[in-house]
Amino acid sequence: MNQAEQLKRKAAEAALSFVEDDMIVGVGTGSTVNHFIELLKGMKGRIDGAVSSSDASTALLKQAGIAVMDLNSVGTLPLYVDGADETDAHRRLIKGGGAALTREKIVAAASEKFVCIVDESKKVGVLGEFPLPIEVIPMARSYVARQLVAAGGRPVFREGVTTDNGNVILDVHDLNLVDPVSVERQFNCIPGVVTVGLFAIRPAEVVISAGVGGVERF
Ligand code: 5RP
Repeated sequence: MNQAEQLKRKAAEAALSFVEDDMIVGVGTGSTVNHFIELLKGMKGRIDGAVSSSDASTALLKQAGIAVMDLNSVGTLPLYVDGADETDAHRRLIKGGGAALTREKIVAAASEKFVCIVDESKKVGVLGEFPLPIEVIPMARSYVARQLVAAGGRPVFREGVTTDNGNVILDVHDLNLVDPVSVERQFNCIPGVVTVGLFAIRPAEVVISAGVGGVERF
């Protein structure tokens, strides 16, 4: 395993301390979460199951022998574990690099505690070096793109990607995200936008960041 994967593994290992017996665990999507799923396999007899944020994670959870439950048939989840493309010191995130942002935001919202697992390369002073993913209804793609240009962004259509919900992704470059809460609210109001990949209105409760100097929580 290369160093980047080792750091992701360490962050995932640290998140296991939040998993308690008989829990239904919300599970995110991505290469960092894939380590968490592998580790969760070792606890599968102790948890009741998982709610998944993507078809990809559902497949891995099932392969690991973990029961995957429908969010509609369970109540509020105690815990959601997911990665991020960027985090600031206030635990506000950019997510959606893996195009799973809509279900991720839903499962995070339905959870009491969102524990975000990252390697230290994801920590930034101000969000926005990573282009902001926005999931859009296909027929609204050009309209939404024009609104994003008017807001100062440079949207790029993510070619060849259809989300699990049948939608498309615009990756928005060059945004000023000094106030990510305002931007999330503003973009949420554009007709045709399904989900903005900013998790700032509701940030993570805990970020676990693994670096070469050790694992930190904030
Ligand atoms: C998927 C996501 C992922 O959490 C994000 O892209 C981070 O992925 P990785 O752990 O592979 O770096 O938001 O939509």
